[in-house]
Amino acid sequence: MQLHSKLILLEQPVKKNIVIFASGSGSNAQRLLEHFEHHPQIRVAALFSNNPKAYALKRAETYHVPALLFSRDEFYNSDKVLEQVKAFNPDLIVLAGFLWLVPLNLLQTFPDKIINIHPALLPKYGGKGMHGLHVHTAVVQSGDERSGITIHRVNEEYDKGEFILQEYCPVHPQDTPEELAARVLQLEHKHLPEVVEQLLLEKDKL
Ligand code: GAR
Repeated sequence: MQLHSKLILLEQPVKKNIVIFASGSGSNAQRLLEHFEHHPQIRVAALFSNNPKAYALKRAETYHVPALLFSRDEFYNSDKVLEQVKAFNPDLIVLAGFLWLVPLNLLQTFPDKIINIHPALLPKYGGKGMHGLHVHTAVVQSGDERSGITIHRVNEEYDKGEFILQEYCPVHPQDTPEELAARVLQLEHKHLPEVVEQLLLEKDKL
């Protein structure tokens, strides 16, 4: 009798790669790291930050995700960051609390593949300097009865790209900016991983 052995090639699934940019605490980055930690088709490939004190860098390291720091000069006056990002072969770049305008070299290399989360209902309360508590203070002072989040594509202007999702929450008359921020952040944490997953897995979304 002759033994017939078959060579079985076990193919590793090729995962889609997310690259995160974050400047601060990184609680949204954390949500992405958690959500995709054991995901069969998607992984967080790297986290980039412009801020050496960003807690987001530590969060990435906790998940064994490469954390890369860069300077303003490297970002705006060279292709160094672009080349580092390219090395992770990103299918989607997520700005999760990233406060610098994205330069043209990245926008042109990854058209429609860079998204941002903003803690208000754009087009109101966007633009340069509108981030974090500045946004929530302006909303509370405006008397608006609702706020929320906007997830949108990124272009060469602050907070101006095509909307992907808006979700709403109430603004209560006695709200402090901090109270409103906490309510909005809950919305961000719920919806950002869902939107990222849909963009990466549903056909023609990117
Ligand atoms: C988030 O609320 C995000 O929407 C906001 O910064 C915060 C970062 O929190 N982004 C902007 O204001 C961009 N204009 P996190 O570091 O805990 O994720």
